[in-house]
Amino acid sequence: MKVLIVYAHPNPQSFNQFMLQSLLTGLQEAGHEVRVKDLYAEGFDPVLHAQELETLQTGAVPERIQQEQDALLWADSLIFQYPLWWFDRPAILKGWFDVVFTNQVAFSFNDQGVQGLLPHKKALVMITAGGSEGYFQDTGAMPLIHRPVTDGTLGFCGIVDVQHRIYFDVPNLNEQQRQAILDEITAIGRSF
Ligand SMILES: Cc1cc2nc3c(=O)[nH]c(=O)nc-3n(C[C@H](O)[C@H](O)[C@H](O)COP(=O)(O)O)c2cc1C
Repeated sequence: MKVLIVYAHPNPQSFNQFMLQSLLTGLQEAGHEVRVKDLYAEGFDPVLHAQELETLQTGAVPERIQQEQDALLWADSLIFQYPLWWFDRPAILKGWFDVVFTNQVAFSFNDQGVQGLLPHKKALVMITAGGSEGYFQDTGAMPLIHRPVTDGTLGFCGIVDVQHRIYFDVPNLNEQQRQAILDEITAIGRSF
């Protein structure tokens, strides 16, 4: 498969970066063709500017948006990896969706309602959280972690098979626990 990983973490020494490398190892062992879109490293501008919105509304597509959409549509499967920030994706990733998942490419409206247009076979959303699993369970906040992305964005745009993995309490993990997660992620990549 052709897999696009959209990755959003600013620190190249972060646990998320180790997770990304483990995922790549597994995906490559399985023979997938993989591209990584590292939003911070690329200096992605997450603002959908007034001029761009105006251009999109005429039916034309600004050059930088076209390039992002070419990368999106090159892939037949998508993986998103990011830390949970304020119960959601980091703003740079939210902005990537604002800019790239445009009307007539990712979805359309007509008098029948909304139609998802993305052709991807499947998507995987990998999230790390600072909070413990118990905290999210006790507060009823568990679905808030992934639903804005899994349902609100990817499902809305027509991707039927959307899975997610959440890793809790990440800042408090010991070395052994971190390694167990990295091994699990390599296996996820291998069986993707
Ligand atoms: C701006 C910001 C917002 C955060 N919001 C949350 C949050 O809403 N819930 C949570 O459990 N952790 C939150 N965290 C903690 C991060 O999710 C956690 O530190 C990260 O997933 C650990 O992975 P890393 O070591 O690769 O950064 C936040 C951290 C930052 C910097």
